[in-house]
Amino acid sequence: MGRIIILSALAIACLISCGAPKKIENKNTITSPVKYKNVEDLLKKMTLDEKIGQMNQYNGFWNVTGPSPKDGDAAKKYENLRSGLVGSMLNVRGVEQVRKVQEIAVNETRLGIPLIFGFDVIHGYQTISPIPLAESASWDMEAIKLSAKMAAKEAAASGLNWTFAPMVDISRDARWGRVMEGAGEDPYLGSAIAAARVKGFQGDDLSDPSTLAACAKHFAGYGFAEGGRDYNTSVISGEILHNVVLPPFKACVDAGVSTFMNGFNEMNGVPVTGHIKLQREILKGLWGYEGMIVSDWGSIGEMKAHGFAADDKEAGLKAVLAGSDMDMESYIYVKHLKTLVEEGKVDMALIDDAARRILNLKQELGLFEDPFKYCDLNREAQVIGSDELKMAARDMARKSVVLLKNENAGLPIKDKKSIAVIGPHVSEKNSPLGSWRIAGKDNTAISVEEGLTKYKDVDWSFLQGVQLTTAPTNFVFETKINEDDRTGIDEAVAKAKEVDQVIMVLGEHGFQSGEARSRTSLDLPGLQQELLEAVHAVNPNIVLIVMSGRPLDLSWADENIPTIVQAWHLGTESGNALAEIIMGEYNPSGKLPMSFPRSVGQMPLYYNYKNTGRPSQHPDPNLVFWSHYIDEENSALYPFGHGESYTSFEYSNFTVSQNNTGYLASVTVSNTGQMDGEEVTQLYIRDLAASINRPVQELKGFEKTMLKSGESKTITFSLTDKELGFYDNEGNYHVEDGEFDIMVGGSSAKVLKKTIERATTSLKP
Ligand code: NOJ
Repeated sequence: MGRIIILSALAIACLISCGAPKKIENKNTITSPVKYKNVEDLLKKMTLDEKIGQMNQYNGFWNVTGPSPKDGDAAKKYENLRSGLVGSMLNVRGVEQVRKVQEIAVNETRLGIPLIFGFDVIHGYQTISPIPLAESASWDMEAIKLSAKMAAKEAAASGLNWTFAPMVDISRDARWGRVMEGAGEDPYLGSAIAAARVKGFQGDDLSDPSTLAACAKHFAGYGFAEGGRDYNTSVISGEILHNVVLPPFKACVDAGVSTFMNGFNEMNGVPVTGHIKLQREILKGLWGYEGMIVSDWGSIGEMKAHGFAADDKEAGLKAVLAGSDMDMESYIYVKHLKTLVEEGKVDMALIDDAARRILNLKQELGLFEDPFKYCDLNREAQVIGSDELKMAARDMARKSVVLLKNENAGLPIKDKKSIAVIGPHVSEKNSPLGSWRIAGKDNTAISVEEGLTKYKDVDWSFLQGVQLTTAPTNFVFETKINEDDRTGIDEAVAKAKEVDQVIMVLGEHGFQSGEARSRTSLDLPGLQQELLEAVHAVNPNIVLIVMSGRPLDLSWADENIPTIVQAWHLGTESGNALAEIIMGEYNPSGKLPMSFPRSVGQMPLYYNYKNTGRPSQHPDPNLVFWSHYIDEENSALYPFGHGESYTSFEYSNFTVSQNNTGYLASVTVSNTGQMDGEEVTQLYIRDLAASINRPVQELKGFEKTMLKSGESKTITFSLTDKELGFYDNEGNYHVEDGEFDIMVGGSSAKVLKKTIERATTSLKP
């Protein structure tokens, strides 16, 4: 590992000093521009090596977002770059660095084909927005779109033109660390969010240098890793694949996403990187997707470890046949594809098709017209970290917060009081940045302490209680929350006794979720539960703020703590947004995009489950032989769609009527409390008897509405065949006659219900 880093450093030092002009200026330095009429014309000029080169993506030399190569291949990168054998780089960032590498591609290679620069812009670039799961809790598509747009603007100002986002993997298992990167458990909400993110990143014009090409990942089934252990096997039935896993990916295609990434997992015995049915048949065939597919980091090579390929060459063969167009960091295409073509194992048409998809993207990004169009030092200086970005991140942070419970109206803080703010996250400036923040500067989040101290009327005291044992400064480092040092607990308890109220800020460190951060426990890590109970014993007047990248088991807190706020990892503006909520300047409106469990043993847990033949709502709960646990309820502690407000909402006048295309469901929502507030009205259906068992509830519509105190609005949802049907195991779509429950409400667990009888003959054409 050490040797590789030295080699890499030498290579990049040479790359910078030998290949680039001393002074960076904001002007193009193309000396060998590509002479071509269009992509087809360019393809005719390219050798087989050059086409394969386009299919090769290397990591840069600064950030690492996957295992480093074990052999000396890293040193070859520079040589291959000069020979035109690289189509894209990832993790090269900053106008100066991007320009230096681009200059090699443009000025020193035979055809001067520019590179695309990819990066994981997952929740912001340097200005960090809330983790995607948190943003999803806003149920606010315009806000999510704007957040992606701002991230694109900042990243593109840094020379980048491609983000590996959005991750649209549905997951039902909070143990899986990457739930933080997705939109939660529901395919309908997940699809809407996927489309919003794609549109936000890409804008209307991909060649606009304030936008990025997006990437729908990981195609497919990565979120169904067995046991929630990252990279693990997934087994997915045809019906679940088509109804749950694929819809967000299809939504990305419909939204015009430029690229796809496959994944590390195998699905039903076949690694998805080599999955012909997924990539060639469904994505590029059935859905008519014309963009390119990049592999995940080393995932072509990993097909050997899966047991799907005997060696690199076979792995390359299987990946290219399956439709993987670009090899991220396996170094396999560049080494073996030419031989595979010469041996007649890979048709030249497949290479042309892959190279064409990649070149088309370069064309759409405007890179042929100006390879340096993303490299503007002035724009970089003006845009990165600007107030516009910070304000947008703060607004997104406010909207992402979910008020889980608020008994006795513990929030907002009303009177001037003495308040002790206790917990390892109180003064934390790193953890709220979350897991994917490679370009984010360490310790730049506004802490809760910083946010609250602006409110001078309260007598604040801030204590950690238990410390974070490590303060990681690198994406790859692990962190822990104190597991054995109890010294701070006594001090926290003493202070809690003196004050009117306690606010506790507990949860996971930002690096305890994310890639390769799976957990077997969903408890508050380290000594935090002990701290919570010790403080509660002396002062139960507690507001609990939970920071985490996943749903945690908050059952003890739910029983004992009157007010609980789910604050995720909210990014750069975390402390400011939370302070506004705590002090009542913003009324929280988030709703959970994932079920919160009563116990880790319930995993996987999701609201849209199947009824079983022995459903849990059995009329006689004393009977043994029904689908349940003997030691815990089946239901979620806080269900999907749940979220409270400082005001209250009531639902009335629920009607379902038939029209030409299907049905209209209408309901009146009233703000019956004292504050203005936003409510997310949710529409669910249940197909009561179908040829494939349908879930007990499926989200099929939602609307977020601002209501002034005392105001009412009628919300109407349309239910057509698109909402009422489902896919079978083979992927055929059906809409069947019979009874449907139609449900509306402010949470999946709190709905008004009506039953309709669908009969094809009664529907007018
Ligand atoms: C591996 C991750 O699975 C993927 O999501 C990411 O985009 C790549 N590494 C590149 O960093």
